[in-house]
Amino acid sequence: MKDDMHAFSGKDLVTLKGVERTDYELVFQVANEMDKITKARTLTDLLHDQVLGLMFFQVSTRTRISFESAMQRLGGRVVGFVDPKTTRAGDYYAESLHDTIRMMENYADVLVIRYPQDGGPTEAAGYTDVPVINAGDGYNEHPTQSMLDLYTINREKGCIEGLNVGFIGDMNIRGTHSLPLGLAQFNAKAYFVSPENAKMPEKWLKEYDRIGLKYEEASSIEDVLKDIDVFYMAGTNPPSFHAGRQEAIADRPQTDPAYVIDPEKLSRAKPDAIVLSPLPRKDEIPTSVDPYGAARYFVQAYNAVPVRMALLALILGRAP
Ligand code: CP
Repeated sequence: MKDDMHAFSGKDLVTLKGVERTDYELVFQVANEMDKITKARTLTDLLHDQVLGLMFFQVSTRTRISFESAMQRLGGRVVGFVDPKTTRAGDYYAESLHDTIRMMENYADVLVIRYPQDGGPTEAAGYTDVPVINAGDGYNEHPTQSMLDLYTINREKGCIEGLNVGFIGDMNIRGTHSLPLGLAQFNAKAYFVSPENAKMPEKWLKEYDRIGLKYEEASSIEDVLKDIDVFYMAGTNPPSFHAGRQEAIADRPQTDPAYVIDPEKLSRAKPDAIVLSPLPRKDEIPTSVDPYGAARYFVQAYNAVPVRMALLALILGRAP
């Protein structure tokens, strides 16, 4: 494993633990440059001689395709798999993560791994000198999602410092664990608003205490509505993050209104509050919210490309 104390060049990115404010600010600065390329819908040759290896053991729309798009916009090549069933890791041989990594390190210069078990990307990073990026592991972390969340907050609100960020829904979701690590670096405050059976796990609260994050817990969006600058809609009743894939079901449970944002609630919130979501959504953000200026989740999804371009360029030592 490569030493994970950033700044980035040649390093793994498997957790946001240890990432400092100056590291985030560097990513924001490089992402602003990359944004010019994505906005112009053009390509550059910055990574023309580099290959990205995708290893997606679980389904994904945003993370996988935005990483592919990021690498393509930087002039690099992409190899890998989007379903382990097409590889020896997912057939009769059940090839181990160790052996799969020892193959992929020959085929690519940086590896992006989504894995169903907590800690899979960290374990993978221990098997190779090629940088490993965590694209979401089990119920643990989703560091690049949180990087683009922070970038979006900074762009949309003008700063992160001192903001109140409300996490609404199930606090077991991996993106809700990484983002508070970043918020602590900017002296922002987190509100964890969840049902009793989906509270922020104790081990994460201990970590937030250790790093000095300011936070409160609440049980309904109504309790915090007037305080929140950024609603981060995590959703409730998610599919299993330990499964490779779960089929759609007709009778998906409806979200308790205590964890839904809608136009009526927005009308009682701060006038400049914004709504973010890692997506996909169910019914926690009804489509009636989409036309409102507060709805910034599609901009957030767009930001995935310049932010992941910045991370690839930084990790491969080629940032402009
Ligand atoms: N936000 C996110 O991780 O989405 P995907 O599961 O589509 O990658």
